[in-house]
Amino acid sequence: MLKNDLLLRAARGEDVERAPVWLMRQAGRVLPEYRATRSRAKNFVEFVKTPELACEVTVQPVDILGVDAAIIFSDILVIPEAMGLPYQMIEAKGPWFEKTIKTREDISKLKIAEADDLSYVMKALELTKKELNDRVPLIGFAGAPWTLLSYMVEGSGSKTFSKAKQFLYTQPELAHALLDKITKSTINYLKGQVKAGVDLVQLFDSWAGVLSEEMFYEFSLKYISQICDAISPLVPVTVFAKDAHYAVEKISQTSCSSIGLDWTIDPKKARAVSGTKTLQGNADPCLLYADEKTILSQTTKMLESFGKQRYICNLGHGLYPDLEKEKVKYFVDVVKAHNYK
Ligand code: CP3
Repeated sequence: MLKNDLLLRAARGEDVERAPVWLMRQAGRVLPEYRATRSRAKNFVEFVKTPELACEVTVQPVDILGVDAAIIFSDILVIPEAMGLPYQMIEAKGPWFEKTIKTREDISKLKIAEADDLSYVMKALELTKKELNDRVPLIGFAGAPWTLLSYMVEGSGSKTFSKAKQFLYTQPELAHALLDKITKSTINYLKGQVKAGVDLVQLFDSWAGVLSEEMFYEFSLKYISQICDAISPLVPVTVFAKDAHYAVEKISQTSCSSIGLDWTIDPKKARAVSGTKTLQGNADPCLLYADEKTILSQTTKMLESFGKQRYICNLGHGLYPDLEKEKVKYFVDVVKAHNYK
């Protein structure tokens, strides 16, 4: 039995005494402890593949920041790798793939990943479950198919993802074939994560915002919805489609439990179109550059705006590496101490 199950109760729409809080990228460079552990690995990919190190940095924010959940330290790019496209993480630049997807042959060569292909993640999850010892829930995750396609076609990050979008416009049929393979791989992977002990999963559609509304429904939400249908009977699912606030209503029609929001949408507007789904978010990470007085007043306003029930407090995107750890901790403390009006 979990000692602190606030996150799961909030996700299921059950009553809570206060909002649970966790932060995207809480296991990251904001913590000097993370940087120390990371320096013990040869590079990022090796770090992700070493269960003992992944476990260590996953638990750090629970101990240091006092968040109400742990999220497994890994990356969304482990799925492209398991399907046959290895990646590197280039310092100060981001992900890089030596092979990319261009043709039908490229797609047919890709493997549909099985949970066993990602046994290092399963091992990290099992170790972390033990280490957490039921203090807080453990969140698993995967990239949404469109966001993974965009890296697999583009080969790296991009401001516009114009190569990936070109693929959708010029080869829609191939795009669907690739999205289908990614979706099947992701379902296998997330089922494995559930078996290894995760209590909730989050889908990250980080590049939803580069698509038009119509294309988001056709090339992204369709596949997110399939994943929700496969995983929701097992554990609650959160869908985070960054910069797609136009789609909150349609996302609320999937079988997900919670909807992650970035800071560009007003909490009340999101409530108005999301039925009884739980909402997660949505402070601007840059708020944490401000002084404590500003953090307190803005966070208080956000908490009152979302209301106590069916709400998971988080930022609208991941922590930036140059934020001060003390400010991050202050934000968490404010949420935990808040008395609702
Ligand atoms: O704490 C957590 O949130 C869990 C761990 C986590 C990481 N990546 C670790 C990581 C999660 C959930 C991710 C997801 C991820 N990875 C996404 C979706 C979320 C989002 O931010 O939109 C994306 C798009 C990726 C791909 C990726 N990984 C990029 C673009 C980068 C480089 C950006 C950067 O900050 O340098 C990464 C690297 C990465 N993944 C880091 C961490 C902690 C930083 C790498 C480092 O330690 O040097």
